[in-house]
Amino acid sequence: MAGRTKNGNDKAVSRDSLSVKAQGRRSCVLLEDPSAYIVKTPRKQRNSTVAASRKYAVKLVSEAKNIAIGWLKICNLENAVGFGLPEVDDRYHIWRVPLVKLETKERIGEVVIDAYTSLVSASETTVPAVLETRLLGRNEAKQSARNGNTDVTQMPVSFVRNTVILGDSEQALLDIPSQCVDLIFTSPPYYNARPEYEDYLSYESYLMKMRRIIHNCHRVLSEGRFFVINISPVLIRRSNRNEASKRIAVPFDIHRIFVEEGFDFIDDIHWVKPEGAGWATGRGRRFAADRQPLQYKAVPVTEYVLVYRKHTDKLIDWNIRKHPDQQAVKNSKIIGEYETTNLWRIHPAFHSEHPAVFPVELAKKVVRYYSFKNDVVLDPFAGTGTTGRAAATLSRRFVLMENEMKYIEIIRKEMPDWFGAATKDVLFVGCQPPDTSSVLL
Ligand SMILES: C[S@@+](CC[C@H](N)C(=O)[O-])C[C@H]1O[C@@H](n2cnc3c(N)ncnc32)[C@H](O)[C@@H]1O
Repeated sequence: MAGRTKNGNDKAVSRDSLSVKAQGRRSCVLLEDPSAYIVKTPRKQRNSTVAASRKYAVKLVSEAKNIAIGWLKICNLENAVGFGLPEVDDRYHIWRVPLVKLETKERIGEVVIDAYTSLVSASETTVPAVLETRLLGRNEAKQSARNGNTDVTQMPVSFVRNTVILGDSEQALLDIPSQCVDLIFTSPPYYNARPEYEDYLSYESYLMKMRRIIHNCHRVLSEGRFFVINISPVLIRRSNRNEASKRIAVPFDIHRIFVEEGFDFIDDIHWVKPEGAGWATGRGRRFAADRQPLQYKAVPVTEYVLVYRKHTDKLIDWNIRKHPDQQAVKNSKIIGEYETTNLWRIHPAFHSEHPAVFPVELAKKVVRYYSFKNDVVLDPFAGTGTTGRAAATLSRRFVLMENEMKYIEIIRKEMPDWFGAATKDVLFVGCQPPDTSSVLL
């Protein structure tokens, strides 16, 4: 993980003298010169050459090792584990960094790094609990049996309070403790769909940014809990009459990222808007006029609401049985009508100061179906704070992250209307809390 890696480089902890010197000094030409490896160590040379020819972000053995050190630091295992020689596997575009016992050099696991993004793959890396068990020389089978397949694990109640954070969620997420969020619901920024979103140099860099944020979300989400994302293809308008407009199937690329980052696909829900809602895009007008085959284009009136679950071997029933607040579980039953199919008919919402809000009705359905009362609901792209509003209305806690001050202003302005006197207890990070003096306490 890029951010963690940076943190991980702060202190030198490896016993390998080369990488000790390289940590925190990535610009040091002498130490990072691949030819240093090429002359002395053919295996390192092979790895570095393959990595360079594939244009990976992680090109050097020392870089892969540093990323592994950063990950071990997060798990508090950096002083307990040694390293074998990192190997690049260009069939899967990953680096494998073997982890060994310090004394015996016996292999106890590995850190797997995405070579293109430099992110640690949570689903493929040996989990810290397994590393600890192997370090302590425990019999894993006995341990697992004693634990009833780790089923006795007591999940603590998250201590996170209602929070609004001004900042880039990629960074802000690093300050949130692991596994203290119970549901994530969001809609990401559109890739250059509108002039105000022209923040990304290329579609690839957009996807890379989304990957880093999804990766960081994975860490803060509790085991087996849900990440629900509202997303749809984007239309890149033609720049002149001789060019065709282009539609990019963002949800399908994002789906792959979710799976690679350790989430299981659960559902594709279609948010259906009333007919006429998509007409403003201009799609389908040409066909409506001249009815030529091949000119047909469907007017989009749906958006995806994709549902993922943080990977676990445990059944959803485990999450319900092991929830630390069984009273909250009882009180959260969904009584009365509910959506029985994956077609959810909801009117779109509009906001005079934000171009892309989703309706609070949509957020409420997601919060009701995928969380319990008092759970913590995170939105890493909060916009006007619709997810927070839905969470608060349904007695859940919220963590909202937004990097534009103008949208934080909207949250500050509107929160007293939907959260009343409780607004004064909300933690505002990187921005001033709203003035609640006029709210009835
Ligand atoms: C599609 S909008 C979300 C709107 C929100 N669902 C609502 O109902 O108001 C995406 C939001 O993400 C914000 N954003 C984009 N990149 C971000 C980042 N790296 N960190 C935090 N917020 C970001 C944008 O400013 C925008 O407000």
